[in-house]
Amino acid sequence: MYKYLTINSLIQTTCYLLSSALAIAQQPSSFNPGQLWPDADGNHIQAHGGGVIKFKKTYYWYGEQRSQGLDSNLRYVSCYSSKDLLHWKFRGNALQITDPEHLGPRWVLERPKVYYNEKTRKYVMYFHLDNNTYKLAKVGIAVSDRPAGPFVFVKSFRPLDHESRDIGQFIDDDGTAYLVFEDRPFGFRIARLSEDYMSLEKEMSLIKEHMEGGAIVHYKGLYYAIGSALTGWQANPNKYAVATSLEGPWSDFKDVAPPEKNTYGAQSTMMLKVTGKRSTTVIFMGDIWKPKTQWESTYLWMPVQIGEGQLRVPEPQPWTLDVKSGGYRID
Ligand code: DGJ
Repeated sequence: MYKYLTINSLIQTTCYLLSSALAIAQQPSSFNPGQLWPDADGNHIQAHGGGVIKFKKTYYWYGEQRSQGLDSNLRYVSCYSSKDLLHWKFRGNALQITDPEHLGPRWVLERPKVYYNEKTRKYVMYFHLDNNTYKLAKVGIAVSDRPAGPFVFVKSFRPLDHESRDIGQFIDDDGTAYLVFEDRPFGFRIARLSEDYMSLEKEMSLIKEHMEGGAIVHYKGLYYAIGSALTGWQANPNKYAVATSLEGPWSDFKDVAPPEKNTYGAQSTMMLKVTGKRSTTVIFMGDIWKPKTQWESTYLWMPVQIGEGQLRVPEPQPWTLDVKSGGYRID
């Protein structure tokens, strides 16, 4: 018996060591747009339509958990953490809920984004909540005391009484938090969150362009708003407009890449600004959707060429980032 246990635990330890070694061997040494992106356990990251935010010294990435074999009655928001934006540890599903408002089969929870409210000390998650017709067009809110959850569903509503499908998150340099949302009949709205982040209090702009996957970045005195056309899961030429204030006026929209490239197969989800000791890198975060095998959807993260009202997502290729200096290298 003792001998059996020893052999058994030896096999278990060997398996554990081998799988850890395999996970370490799989760790990326550069950002590889469009490739599978293994987390610390070697599993492809499941954080689709998501957003990244820094709390203290750690980055958190929240997104749609679309692994195979999940309970089809539930919806899951994953949470990953990282110090360098390249190596991510899966922190579990921060939100895991059954249909909170009895919306029926194929109810929708998409594009989760998390804000931290310093006054209430709560982590507040926003997401698109819908039924299978996509006509409900609401945001849902869930709250937690900790970044990795568990988040608890609180309520849903239409922001400022407008339809809202895809949502985007923007936090300005002064810490003010905004929600970007797609209001199908009219366009693309930017609104400021209330003091406790549990509602929206002021519309900043209505950009009369039909766009989803909304994202904003504030760079050297200009605001750049990015979005994609409404083509479902299919890629299209994403576009951007520029303004000196969130209240506009906004410039005409221009392509972020040669239009025939269809944004290299990706759809915008966030513009992430990394400011280090020496420079600032703005990362275009996009999803390369695989509609029939969603768990294989990949990511296109590329540092953009940005400044003086121009923005360009370069041809995807491997690159590295130094979050301390704020600089990046395309090898
Ligand atoms: C495009 C949106 O950006 C996605 O979040 C998702 O809602 C798909 N449409 C569904 O077709």
